[in-house]
Amino acid sequence: MNFQEAKQLLESYGQSHILTYYDELSDVEKNALLEQIEGCDFSLPQMIHNNKEHSERGKIEPLPVLQLEEVNRLRPKFEKIGLDAIKNTRVAAVLLAGGMGTRLGSDDPKGMYDIGKTKPVYIFQRLIENLMDVVKQADTVIPLYIMTSDKNHHATINFFETMNYFGYPKEAITFFMQEMAVACDYNGKVYMESKGVISVSPNGNGGWFSSLMKAGLIPKLKAQNVEWLNIFSVDNVLQRICDPCFIGATIKHQCQIGSKVVKKAAPDEKVGVMCLEDKKPSIVEYYELTDELMNAKDENGDPAYNFGVILNYLFQLSKLEEIANRKLPLHIVEKKIAHIDQDGNSVAIEKPNGYKFETLVLDMIHMADSCLPFEVVREYEFAPIKNKTGVDSVETARELCEKCNISL
Ligand code: UTP
Repeated sequence: MNFQEAKQLLESYGQSHILTYYDELSDVEKNALLEQIEGCDFSLPQMIHNNKEHSERGKIEPLPVLQLEEVNRLRPKFEKIGLDAIKNTRVAAVLLAGGMGTRLGSDDPKGMYDIGKTKPVYIFQRLIENLMDVVKQADTVIPLYIMTSDKNHHATINFFETMNYFGYPKEAITFFMQEMAVACDYNGKVYMESKGVISVSPNGNGGWFSSLMKAGLIPKLKAQNVEWLNIFSVDNVLQRICDPCFIGATIKHQCQIGSKVVKKAAPDEKVGVMCLEDKKPSIVEYYELTDELMNAKDENGDPAYNFGVILNYLFQLSKLEEIANRKLPLHIVEKKIAHIDQDGNSVAIEKPNGYKFETLVLDMIHMADSCLPFEVVREYEFAPIKNKTGVDSVETARELCEKCNISL
C-alpha cells in the first residue's frame, strides 16, 4: 500500500490522524506504518456505535453434565478410547498464550511468571509438566501448538529455548501468532502507540482457529493425523491437558466439542455456565445469569446451571473447518490503552481510556450441534491465575498446588 492509498483508506474511516507524524518518520518507519495500515481492520471502531453485545439471548435450558460419579464409573473405558486416540496422534494440544495478562501486571508473557516459593516454578513449566504426564502414560509425543501474539511472540519463544522446552521434544512444538485488532478512544478514534505505530492488541482468544488457519497450519495438523484439538488457557496451573478420560468421553458420546467444567463454588461465582440456547450448546456468562436461572433446579432438585467452564475444550477439527467462515460476535472491552497525545508524547495510563475488540472462544461453542460438559474435580484441576493477590491469584494457585503435593 502506498501513501496515497493509505491516506484515502484512512479518510474513508475518519482516521486520518494516523498519518499526522508521517513526514517525521524514517523510510523504514514509513514503510512499516503503511504495512500496518494495510493489515488493520478500521471498521472495528465503528462497532462501538452499534454494539449488539447485549442483544437478546435465545431460550436457555439446562445441558446435562457428565458428572464425576458417572465419569469415575466409566473411567477405564473412556481412558482406553482416549489413549488410543492419543497414541494415533489424533489429538493435539493448543495453548492459548496470546493474552496480555494485564491483571497480573507483568511485562513478560504470563507463562513466564514464576509461582515458585523455594525454587523457580514457571507457569509454562507447570503446563508442560502436566502434558508430559500424558505423554509418558501414552508413550507418544503429543503435538503442541502455542499461540502467541505480536506483543509476546519473541519473548515466549526465547523463554522456551532458554528453558530447553522444559524437557518437551522441541520438534513437537509449533508456535504461531494470533491476529491483532486496533484499539480506540471512546469516540472511535484509533490510538497511536508512537508516531509511527498504531495501538493494536490481540483480538481475543476466539481468534485462535482463524489464526491457526492463517498461519497455514491446518495441512500440518492433517499430515500429523490430528482430528481433535484440546485448547487450554495459559493461566490454570493445575489443569490436565489431553486428559485421556475427557477425550475418550467426548468421542464415546459422539460430541463435536468436549468442555471441562467444575461445580461452582457459589451460585454467583464469576464463571460462565454451560447450557442449551435454542437447543444448541452455549455458555451463559456470570453477568448474564438472572436470578431465575441462578435459582432454577433440575429434575433431581439440584441447581440447573451449576457447572462453570474452565477454558479447557476439545474441538473436532472437521467441525472447526466447517464453522471457520462464520463470524463470531465481537466483544467491545473497555481497557487501558497505551498511546501518545496530540503532541506526540507518551501518556501515562491509570484508568481505562478506550476500547479493544475481541472475539471469545466461548462463542464458538454455540456454533456446534453437540457439546459434552465433563465434570472434573475442582481442587485437582482448577487453579487459575488472573491476579497477583486475592481471588484467582498467584496466592490462591500456590495454595491449591501445594494441596496437590506439587512442590513449589
Ligand atoms: P484472559 O481472558 O484471562 O485474558 O485470557 P488475559 O489477556 O490473559 O488477561 P487480562 O484480562 O489481560 O488480565 C484467557 C486465556 O485466553 C488467552 C490468554 O492468554 C489466556 O490463556 N488469550 C486471551 C489469548 O490467547 N488471546 C487473547 O487475545 C486473549
